[in-house]
Amino acid sequence: MKINYALALVALALVGCGSGQKPESSPGVANNRPLPLVAFSQANSADPWRQVFDADTKTAAEKHADAMSYEMQAAEDDPNKQINVIETFMLKNPKVLLVSPATEAVQSATDKAFDKGIPVILLDREVQGDKWTAYIGGDNREIGRQAGQFIVEKLGGTGTVLMVQGISDIKPTIDRREGAMESFQNAPGIKVIFGDDCKYQRQAAQSYMESFLQSRKAFDAVYAHNDEMAIGALMAYQASANKPAKRPLFVGVDGCQQEVIQMIKDGLLDATFKYPGPGPKAIELAAEILKGKQPTEKRIILPTIKVTKDNADQYMIDNPNLAN
Ligand code: FRU
Repeated sequence: MKINYALALVALALVGCGSGQKPESSPGVANNRPLPLVAFSQANSADPWRQVFDADTKTAAEKHADAMSYEMQAAEDDPNKQINVIETFMLKNPKVLLVSPATEAVQSATDKAFDKGIPVILLDREVQGDKWTAYIGGDNREIGRQAGQFIVEKLGGTGTVLMVQGISDIKPTIDRREGAMESFQNAPGIKVIFGDDCKYQRQAAQSYMESFLQSRKAFDAVYAHNDEMAIGALMAYQASANKPAKRPLFVGVDGCQQEVIQMIKDGLLDATFKYPGPGPKAIELAAEILKGKQPTEKRIILPTIKVTKDNADQYMIDNPNLAN
């Protein structure tokens, strides 16, 4: 009987929830009863930051395997797909819903879940309104400020910064831009060119940079809202016949890839700013909620670390779970 029940659950997990990509899941059973479900709707699982985020969250959930079952499904950064994922999760009666929104457009689904009494924990990106239990994310404004300050100092207060931007209407992008502008506005010799929305993707940033370089506009630094776009811009620069005479600075955000830290050590990129993954903290919070405790803080903001040539080796040692 026990075995049959376990087999049925495994079969259920293999069938998945029928909305495109297969969910990652660890269906737990205790005393012949399924464990409470912590369901995680991830914006996408395509880029390195999200892959580390997914792995860390799964590892954290496995540490609570006696208290929760855990399921994650990604949505290719498409809000409509993510709304479907959340609605399908709701049919499984989750006890906590973790959501890293693709965009604010998923609010209709998070609001519905919250109205049904499901604690909703938002991760990294946000939605409007207050129908959520807690938010966990990095300090994007501070990251922007520090990135801006780093560039101002390196350029000696004078020069043109090309800002390669992430998805235009989400909070991390707005904060990374506005934080940097605070630093740039304190340095009257700095000019900013607002680059295109390159969707936080390497390839899009590379194509954008190729056409930007063809315009032969002068620039002294690239500030990309994530490392993938910094690498894309760098690759276009390296391949271009229209390079500025002096090598520009390249600065990114995330600090989650060995490749990036190696590029910093090699002097190809100048700095990145760690954008800590919110997954482990989210699982900790979910475990507390399952025990009947309410979160004491509504917004949990995780600190950044500046990574340059000076601390790149130490950063590798301190962060053993970087993406390959
Ligand atoms: C991954 C990502 C990260 C970035 C975050 C912002 O999808 O683009 O690179 O830091 O999302 O929401």
